[in-house]
Amino acid sequence: MTGADSPQIAKIGVVGAGLMASQLALLFARKLRVPVIISDLSEERVRNALTGIRARLERDAAKGRLEPAEAQQIAELLRGTTDPSDFAGCTAVIEAVFEELEVKRSVFRTLEEAVDSETLLLTNTSSLSVAAMAEGLRHPERVVGFHFFNPVAVLPLLELVRTPFASDAAMAEASRLAERLGKTAVHVADSPGFVVNRLLTRLFDEVLEEIDDGGDPLSVDRALDPWGLPMTPLALIDYIGPAVQAHICAAMHASFPDRFREPASLTAVVEARLPGFLLADGTLRPEVRQLLPQPHDVDPGDVRERVRAALAEEVRLMLEEGAARSAEDIDLCMVLGANYPQGGLTPLLTERVSA
Ligand SMILES: NC(=O)c1ccc[n+]([C@@H]2O[C@H](COP(=O)([O-])OP(=O)(O)OC[C@H]3O[C@@H](n4cnc5c(N)ncnc54)[C@H](O)[C@@H]3O)[C@@H](O)[C@H]2O)c1
Repeated sequence: MTGADSPQIAKIGVVGAGLMASQLALLFARKLRVPVIISDLSEERVRNALTGIRARLERDAAKGRLEPAEAQQIAELLRGTTDPSDFAGCTAVIEAVFEELEVKRSVFRTLEEAVDSETLLLTNTSSLSVAAMAEGLRHPERVVGFHFFNPVAVLPLLELVRTPFASDAAMAEASRLAERLGKTAVHVADSPGFVVNRLLTRLFDEVLEEIDDGGDPLSVDRALDPWGLPMTPLALIDYIGPAVQAHICAAMHASFPDRFREPASLTAVVEARLPGFLLADGTLRPEVRQLLPQPHDVDPGDVRERVRAALAEEVRLMLEEGAARSAEDIDLCMVLGANYPQGGLTPLLTERVSA
């Protein structure tokens, strides 16, 4: 797509220059071909992000995924700043700062001073209330949840979250933007963890509780293998980052204390500052073994049945609450946002897949 195809988008802002923001800045520049400005708390963080994005473009050019001239053209669209007033003139600004409500609220308050009253304010939050972020702003009607999945270039899902304040115009504009970015937007309610993180966290909780109770960690981790998921639960927690997942577990526990826990093994791995549970070959890190109870054998079929029942319960509650519009939407989210096999969760929950 060229700038001429998207005349109404003048410039895009990205607040935060971390893992997600860097990927988002690149996606916006690549797909929209408009100037993208990215900010963070320090010039060094902004510089590092821009260096990383340019290196990524060079790699893509070297691999033939992009013409070198195109890579250069995209790189030139990206600019960094630490001054919020530089967001003036943006058509949309997305925040991807720390997952803390007060930080995000303050980012939006500051942005409102710089941007027009109609500039879309998007949040990439994974688990916080989008309405709470919009509340108190002069123009809360333009705040929309715009939740991407990591890796952004690979996973096509965008969870689109409407708050009670949102205008139809803002929602329509956000949908159009998602389409231009080549993403499939699925409307989800402004509820904790939205769809994908809620279900993944429930799954992690069940698996980690088995491990907390002394279930042999690798047998528990491999119990879902017959489902053909893209990664084992522990490998996925390691990919997400144990500290990030612990943060999500805490948020989910605060919202639904009867079903979501803060698993002891995950807390122990985070407190020990370990990078994850597993080594690259899929075996347990020896340091993790020291943190866990003496292991006993488990029946993988029992673990699978436990997870299946928990996910079925969570899906039922989500549909009752209206967290998702339909079971089909939930399946779509799991396929496009978590790389689940064709059909998503429904086939796994309705058929008893045996080892
Ligand atoms: N990591 C993931 O896989 C993932 C996936 C989807 C959504 N998210 C969400 O995206 C957001 C960012 O996550 P991340 O993993 O990229 O985090 P990160 O820690 O890599 O990056 C956050 C960045 O925000 C910056 N920051 C903090 N306060 C700021 C402020 N006031 N102004 C400007 N910059 C500020 C930090 O310096 C840091 O560089 C979170 O809301 C997270 O829940 C993360």
